Amino acid sequence: MPLTSDSLLKIRAAFPSVSSTDTIYFDNPGGTQVTQSVIDAITQYYLHRNANVGAAFARSQKTDQTVTEARSAMADFLGAPDPATIVFGPSMTALTFHIARSFGETLRPGDEIIVTDLDHDANVTPWAELETCGAVIRRIPFRVTDGTLDIDAFRAALRPGKTRLAALGYASNALGTVTDLAPLVAAAHEAGAMVYIDAVQSVPHIPTDVTALDCDFLACSAYKFFGPHMGVLYGKRSHLESLTPHKVQPAKNYIPWRWEQGTPNFECLSAITAAVDYIASLGVGASRRERLLSAMSDVQAYEQDLSARLLQGLQRVAGVTVFGITDPERLQERIPTFSFIVEGETPRMTCERLARGNVNSYNGNYYAVQVMESLGLLENGAVRVGLAHYNTSEEIDRFLVALAGETNQ
Ligand SMILES: Cc1ncc(COP(=O)(O)O)c(C=O)c1O
Repeated sequence: MPLTSDSLLKIRAAFPSVSSTDTIYFDNPGGTQVTQSVIDAITQYYLHRNANVGAAFARSQKTDQTVTEARSAMADFLGAPDPATIVFGPSMTALTFHIARSFGETLRPGDEIIVTDLDHDANVTPWAELETCGAVIRRIPFRVTDGTLDIDAFRAALRPGKTRLAALGYASNALGTVTDLAPLVAAAHEAGAMVYIDAVQSVPHIPTDVTALDCDFLACSAYKFFGPHMGVLYGKRSHLESLTPHKVQPAKNYIPWRWEQGTPNFECLSAITAAVDYIASLGVGASRRERLLSAMSDVQAYEQDLSARLLQGLQRVAGVTVFGITDPERLQERIPTFSFIVEGETPRMTCERLARGNVNSYNGNYYAVQVMESLGLLENGAVRVGLAHYNTSEEIDRFLVALAGETNQ
């Protein structure tokens, strides 16, 4: 069911920080707001469940249940075949370094790894550092004209028997480009390579299905999808079982626990379940997976309408240059994240003006270092505004007034 103005009222009411202020949250790619249910889950955990796992008493058993519930929520959200393939960690970055370190130990000199210039550095440096294990790193450029990955260069870089892993991004945190990954995963597999996907920016905006994608790993961050500051990793069972994690000796040696270092952040796991349940509550269907898919496709359609309005408005403001896909016919190839600069002012100055107009936005490179370098923006970066499903067309209009107001004077 498409999101209507009635559903928008309910959606906004679910987020206390959104409904209680006039602030326009366009800083969503940096982190989203959370629902009251997510806040309550953390409080409830401390009130009624707080303990460590594995003991005979009730609170510990409830904590065991907290972990089980979070794994099953994330398996539903990502389309994973089995909750045991879901690993939690402090952040996507930490999880990626963790996997890369173990993967590096399986490399032979001359093995190759592919990274891209379109990715956030969290999906570049952990792999590029494996040069010290003898790996050859191949970097795939993107087309600066529309911010899309150079697919031909990717295919040409795959070397059967030599390429061991391709690290690919699902959606760019700087330009919003969504990469059609399924054919790339298939091509990588044909060459005998694994695929590690950074889905941090796609998961809040488009339905995710790791089983259909057939990816080997997929990492995301709960604070980008209305949850707490934690990272989540899906890995194929065979890889999680065969790679050797760096872990303390007495810690469990079966999946997924063997990949979780130290005591998990149980209160945040409760909150992850609440975030997934919130998203599911926007959809219809018999199972939570069905409700999540239905919710995410409604969110995607709604956000595409918002994107059309935002893009059209941005292009009308004097002195604004928007990067990435700007063709209104190609909005299905992007998430609602837009980077731009305004002639005559630095991105920081633009963001300061927007902040005075009560609009939260970001300036800088957002760790998409190669993107900024390729666009010639490394020194100051760009302004980034990114929408979430709780934003409205009225907020876009207010943002455009705030942006145009002083620039056009
Ligand atoms: C595309 C992308 N990948 C990775 C990250 C890093 O995620 P985390 O903060 O969980 O390490 C971010 C953070 O903004 C991101 O946007």
